[in-house]
Amino acid sequence: MPLNNSLLPSMQYDAVIIGAGASGLMCALTAGDRSRKVLVIDHANKIGKKILISGGGRCNYTNMYAEPANYLSGNPHFCKSALARYTQWDFQALVDKHRIPWHEKTLGQLFCNQQSSDIVAMLVEECRKSGVTIRLKTALHHVSPLDDLSGFLLDTTLGAIRCTSLVVATGGLSFPTMGASGLGYELAEQFGHPLIERMPGLVPFTMDKQWLSHFIELSGVSADVIASCNGQSFRENVLFTHRGLSGPAILQISSYWRPGNKVAINWLPGLSIKDWFNELRESKPKAEIRSVLSDQLTKRLTAALCTFGELQALTDSGCKPVNRFSPTELQRLAESLESWEVMPAGTEGYKKAEVTLGGVATNNISSKTFESQNQSGLYFVGEVLDVTGHLGGFNFQWAWASGHCAGLYV
Ligand code: FDA
Repeated sequence: MPLNNSLLPSMQYDAVIIGAGASGLMCALTAGDRSRKVLVIDHANKIGKKILISGGGRCNYTNMYAEPANYLSGNPHFCKSALARYTQWDFQALVDKHRIPWHEKTLGQLFCNQQSSDIVAMLVEECRKSGVTIRLKTALHHVSPLDDLSGFLLDTTLGAIRCTSLVVATGGLSFPTMGASGLGYELAEQFGHPLIERMPGLVPFTMDKQWLSHFIELSGVSADVIASCNGQSFRENVLFTHRGLSGPAILQISSYWRPGNKVAINWLPGLSIKDWFNELRESKPKAEIRSVLSDQLTKRLTAALCTFGELQALTDSGCKPVNRFSPTELQRLAESLESWEVMPAGTEGYKKAEVTLGGVATNNISSKTFESQNQSGLYFVGEVLDVTGHLGGFNFQWAWASGHCAGLYV
C-alpha cells in the first residue's frame, strides 16, 4: 500500500489499539483520558469476549495478593514496575466507582457477584466517556511504518488508517474460538522482536489409556492436594476428568510442567502421616488402611488409590491392617501418599488453556512505557508479552496494569 498524507482526518488517530480485550480497553480509556484520539479495532464481533467467559461467567478480575512472584517470564523483573504503578486496588477502585457488586471467593480472588459483562460494560463506559472509538469485525492486513518515523499506516478492512502510536493488545493463542490469533506475534517479528517459545498454560493434563482405564470412574471427584513439579508447589483442589486431571492445583502446576516431567501429588496435605499412624496404632490398630484413609480422602478415591501401582502391593489393595505396617513400610506408605507421581501424556492444548506461556520477549520493550526499543511508537501490552500469571485473577491484573501504563504514553 502506498504511504500517503492525504487521508481523511477521520482516519487519522493519535493511537490505534489492536484488540478490544482487557489490556486494549484499559490502554484505550487511559489514553482517551489524556485527550488522545484513540481507535480500538478488533476482528471479533463482540468486545471483551474472554472477559465475558472468564471466571465461570463472573470474571475473577484481580487478586488481592497480586505481586511479581505470581508471574512467569523469561525476565521476572519486567512486570514489577507496571504492577506497582497500577495495582489491584486501583482496579478495585474503578469497580467500586461503577458500583459493581463483588466478593472474595478464596485466596484473595475477587469476582463479580453477578456477571462478567459488568466489567465489560464498565470498560466500555469509561472508553465512551474518554471519547474512544471502538470498531469490531475489523481486520488488519498490513502495518507500514512511516518513512519519517512519525507513526504508522495501517491497511485495514475499514480502509487506510494513520496513527502516531500503535498498540498490540492481541492477547495469546488460547481459546481460538474466542478470537485468539497469532497477529501480535507476527507484528513482533516484523519489527525484530524475538519470541519466547509459546505453550498452553493453566491447562488440564491428559493421561494415557492405562491410567485412564483405572481412574476414569473418579471423573468429577476432587480433593485438596499439593501438586508439585520443577520446584513449584500449589495447594488447591485436583479434579479427575474423563481425559485426565484438572482443577486449580493442576492448572497452576501445568504452567511449570514440560513434556516428560512427572507431577507429584500429596494426597494428605497438612497431615504428618507418621504422627497420624502412631495415633491410629493406639486407637484403631486392627483397622484396614482403606478404612482409615477413607476418613481423610473419600471412599472412592481411597479405593482407586489403593488398587493402583505401588500402593496396591504396599496396602494389600487397601486391606492391610494398620498394626501390620513395619517402620520401613510405613515410610514407603508416607512417601507414596505424599509424593504420588503421575506422568501426564500431554495437555488439553490451547482449546482448553486459560493462557499462553511465552510470547513477545520483553528484552527490547520498556517496562515503564511498554514501547518497543526497536520501533518508536510501537507498543505491546497484555498476554501477548512473555508474562504469564498464576490462576486467580493475576492475568487480568497484568492486562490492566500493562494497558494502563502504556496508555499514559501512547
Ligand atoms: P485478550 O484475549 O483479552 O484480548 C485480545 C483481543 O485481541 C481479543 O478481543 C481478540 O479478538 C483481539 N484480536 C486477536 N487477534 C486479532 C486480530 N488478528 N485482529 C484484530 N483483533 C484481534 N484471567 C484472569 O485473571 N481471571 C479469570 O477469571 C480468567 N478466566 C479465563 C477464562 C478463560 C476460559 C480464558 C481463556 C482465559 C481466562 N483468563 C482469566 C485469562 C485472561 O482472559 C487473559 O489473560 C486476558 O484476557 C488477556 O488480556 P489481553 O488484553 O492481553 O488479551
